Amino acid sequence: MKRRTFIKNASISGLGLAVGSSALNCDNNPKSSSTPETKSNTMKTPLKSPIAICTWAFVDANAKAGQALENGKNALDAAIAGVSVEEENLKNTTVGKGGTPDRAGNVTLDACVMDSTGDCGAVVCAENITHVAALAKQVMTETPHVMLAGQGAEEFAYTQGFKKEQLLTEDSKKAWETWKKSPEYKPIINIENHDTIGMLCLDKDGDIAGACTSSGLSYKMKGRVGDSPIIGSGLFIDNAIGGAAATGLGEEIMKTVGSFLIVELMRNGMHPQQACEEAVRRVTSKNPNYKDFQVAYIAINKAGETGAYCIHEGFRYMKYQDGVNHNILSECVVKA
Ligand code: GLY
Repeated sequence: MKRRTFIKNASISGLGLAVGSSALNCDNNPKSSSTPETKSNTMKTPLKSPIAICTWAFVDANAKAGQALENGKNALDAAIAGVSVEEENLKNTTVGKGGTPDRAGNVTLDACVMDSTGDCGAVVCAENITHVAALAKQVMTETPHVMLAGQGAEEFAYTQGFKKEQLLTEDSKKAWETWKKSPEYKPIINIENHDTIGMLCLDKDGDIAGACTSSGLSYKMKGRVGDSPIIGSGLFIDNAIGGAAATGLGEEIMKTVGSFLIVELMRNGMHPQQACEEAVRRVTSKNPNYKDFQVAYIAINKAGETGAYCIHEGFRYMKYQDGVNHNILSECVVKA
């Protein structure tokens, strides 16, 4: 049963849901009279071409999203198509199949999506399913909920036609067995030069949507969930304003609800670049140990202006526009 059908039927049949539909989804009516008029949402510049941006130098993933947009796909489906490239990339140990396991040896994936209507879906700690961003979309469209966790997410996936897959590759298993010999839990800055893939797309209709997907921190505690599936932390979209996505140490991103913060700063008139810088400043100003971890953000506004900022040098992001896939080194707080 689709989410809205469920909600409607529930209220008609007196199921006694304690919350209304606005609480069950993330609707944020962009036409609301309470939405402040800003430079971003009043800009009428016609869109020359669609844009895809993503965290890190995930060249193929961003190209796939950009081409999907050129072919007329909507922003959400283009973002999901883009991130799926990394979810199935066995060499990528931070996203999807081939991701580094938790300290008990389980690969558990987190993902979320948010569309241009403000609706959203997420899965946390999902095992045995590669394409968790696509699964998050199914949670959004086919259930009355926003988030499914663990076994529930996995069982739901099978009802939607997803296949069961072993996500722990031989290489990841070997690395985990080596790690277990002298287990130390210490996120290392930019060691792999990649991490979560967060992707933001602006389609031909000028609509913005995004996806964020990750295997989380290497050798995390069993059950640990990071920022990537948390709407407002790993990803946030307000189609009247813009979108933002995060990568890096999820605990720090969640403490400042970074992606939501960036969109709100853009709503108040900041350029995406300034907004990303301010969101990183929130993290560094609250945590004196900020030199020990990485946090990075990307953002796009309704006019197609983009920005990125991070704590440590080395964070790159991709920007596809006019058939060109730019690989850009982000500005940072701490230079190597
Ligand atoms: N940003 C990925 C995580 O902390 O799980």
